[in-house]
Amino acid sequence: MTQKTASKKSKAASRGKSRTAKRLTVIRKVKDMQQYVKDARSKRRRIALVPTMGYLHEGHLSLVREARKVATVVVVSVFVNPTQFGPNEDLDRYPRDPSGDRRKLQQEGADVMFAPDLLELYPEGFQTFVDVAEITKDFCGASRPGHFDGVTTVVAKLFNSTKPHLAVFGQKDYQQLAVISRMVTDLDMDIRIIGVPIVREADGLAMSSRNSYLSSDERKSALCLKKSLELAKEMYHEGTTDAGQIKGAVESLIQKHPFTEIDYVTLCDPLTLEDIETLGDESLLALAVRVGRTRLIDNCLIRKKSS
Ligand code: PAJ
Repeated sequence: MTQKTASKKSKAASRGKSRTAKRLTVIRKVKDMQQYVKDARSKRRRIALVPTMGYLHEGHLSLVREARKVATVVVVSVFVNPTQFGPNEDLDRYPRDPSGDRRKLQQEGADVMFAPDLLELYPEGFQTFVDVAEITKDFCGASRPGHFDGVTTVVAKLFNSTKPHLAVFGQKDYQQLAVISRMVTDLDMDIRIIGVPIVREADGLAMSSRNSYLSSDERKSALCLKKSLELAKEMYHEGTTDAGQIKGAVESLIQKHPFTEIDYVTLCDPLTLEDIETLGDESLLALAVRVGRTRLIDNCLIRKKSS
């Protein structure tokens, strides 16, 4: 080995080492978070925010890795946001694992875990909400009234606490990503929104903190979401472009699986989320299905195969 390659290797090794050894800073107060990013910005650091509700899995961690690629300071927020849960939803039983989250973020080389408590984000007297009008109406917005107001409000607040240059979201929550992008455009927020592909378990189930609710029989049935996305793609590639026909086939595949109840199956335009009757070059198939008491979502883009 030449001296040059040896020194290059040792530099690379020490870079790797310093990345894993870097300490994660845990911040719980908005003011402290704002001070941290003020200092970082004064040093011309590029800040990325990854908003999460914790109980972190590989899907979340893929967003952290994406953030690492494009930013020099990676802030991951962990906050189970009550304003996005309906009165009969799972806020109380939503899974939490703060020490596991902290360990995972340390391992991933995140810089900051921003973990405010409830009163820090919603102190007494709180009364301001962000409402994105049109694209919140259907799909998850229709079955979870008020959900997106809670999401956009908390994300706007997290943006104000962390002043990011970029924010990273998963395509798993496709409508959420579209709603956040709309809010950022409409409110002239100077933040680049990055969407990251869905991370799945080996058998195809999209990773979700809510998968932990599933019994083993429900877990088997839950595979119908991914199977139905595959079926729709197959039909399209074999020449079916009628949205009603594809939707019908998807619904009947899901209904054949025990414990399932369809919330919605939609074929729509990937940008406007407006329903389509005929599939063109690129369409979005999005699903929400209850499996037992657990509501799961999944989606895929259906597009022409590139030749
Ligand atoms: P949460 O469900 O914890 O998800 C945090 C982020 O991780 C979201 O952007 C979501 O799309 C992404 N994500 C979840 N599962 C994923 C998977 N299997 N593959 C890729 N990305 C995945 O979404 C929320 O929290 C909240 O609504 C939040 C934006 C934090 C506001 O409270």
